[in-house]
Amino acid sequence: MEKTKQYNAYAETYSETFLEHNQESIKAYFSHLDLNFEGKKVLDLGCGDGYDLSELKTKGALIHGIDSSKEMVHLAQERNPEGIIRVATFSNIPFPDETFDFVVSKWALQTAAFIEPIYQEIIRVLKPGGKLIYLACHPLRQFLEKKRQGKDYFKKEIVESVFFDGQITALEPSHTFNEYLSKTFFDNFVLEAYEEGFDSAAEQINGDIYPSYFIIKATLKKNE
Ligand SMILES: C[S@@+](CC[C@H](N)C(=O)[O-])C[C@H]1O[C@@H](n2cnc3c(N)ncnc32)[C@H](O)[C@@H]1O
Repeated sequence: MEKTKQYNAYAETYSETFLEHNQESIKAYFSHLDLNFEGKKVLDLGCGDGYDLSELKTKGALIHGIDSSKEMVHLAQERNPEGIIRVATFSNIPFPDETFDFVVSKWALQTAAFIEPIYQEIIRVLKPGGKLIYLACHPLRQFLEKKRQGKDYFKKEIVESVFFDGQITALEPSHTFNEYLSKTFFDNFVLEAYEEGFDSAAEQINGDIYPSYFIIKATLKKNE
C-alpha cells in the first residue's frame, strides 16, 4: 500500500480510538498550543479526522487542514464544516505564500520519506514571525522499531509502527534528529521549545521505557 494512502484504510479505526489511546501525547501537544489563536490562520498538516482542528476552532482560530487520505479529509470536513480542508501532501501544500500565522502537526510528519521538502513548504506558507508547532514519532523509537540485531540508526528504512494495543500497524520511514533539526531548520527558525515523552499507546519493544514522540515549537525568522 502506498504509504501516504494507508490511512484511507485505517481512517475509521483511527478516528474511533485515538482519543482513548493518545491522551498523554495530546495533553503534551496542547500544552504547547496554549497560545492566542483568536482570528489567526492555522494549518494542520496531516489533520486526520479533524479533532485537533475542532479544538483550535474553539480557541478562535481560522482553521485549515491537509491530509493525503481522502477518507480522513471527509471525516475532518464533516467535523469542521467551516474549515478549509484539502486532500494534499506535505511537500505540495495547496495554499499561497505567507498565508498562515501557525502551522501545526501531530503524529504525521514522520510518515513522509523526507523532512526537508516539508520544511521548504512550511517556510513558504508561514508568515514571517509565524509559528511551527509539531509532534512527531521519536527517532529513537523508530530505531527500536527496526527490531533486529545490528540495526543502523542512520539508514532510512521502512519500520512497522504498531500502536493502539496492536489495532493499527503503520509503515513509516525512519528518520534521524539531523533531519528534523537540520541546517534548513536553524537557518529559518528560532527553536523555542523541545519536549520528548513516553506514550503508552505505542508498542513497548522489549518492555523498555523510551520516548515515543518529540515536540518542537519554533518561530519563523523575519525577513532581513
Ligand atoms: C497518525 S495520523 C495523525 C492524524 C492527526 N494529526 C492526529 O494526531 O490524530 C497521520 C495522518 O497523516 C496523514 N499523512 C501521512 N502522510 C502524509 C503526507 N505525505 N501528506 C499529507 N498527509 C499525510 C495520514 O493520512 C494521517 O491522517
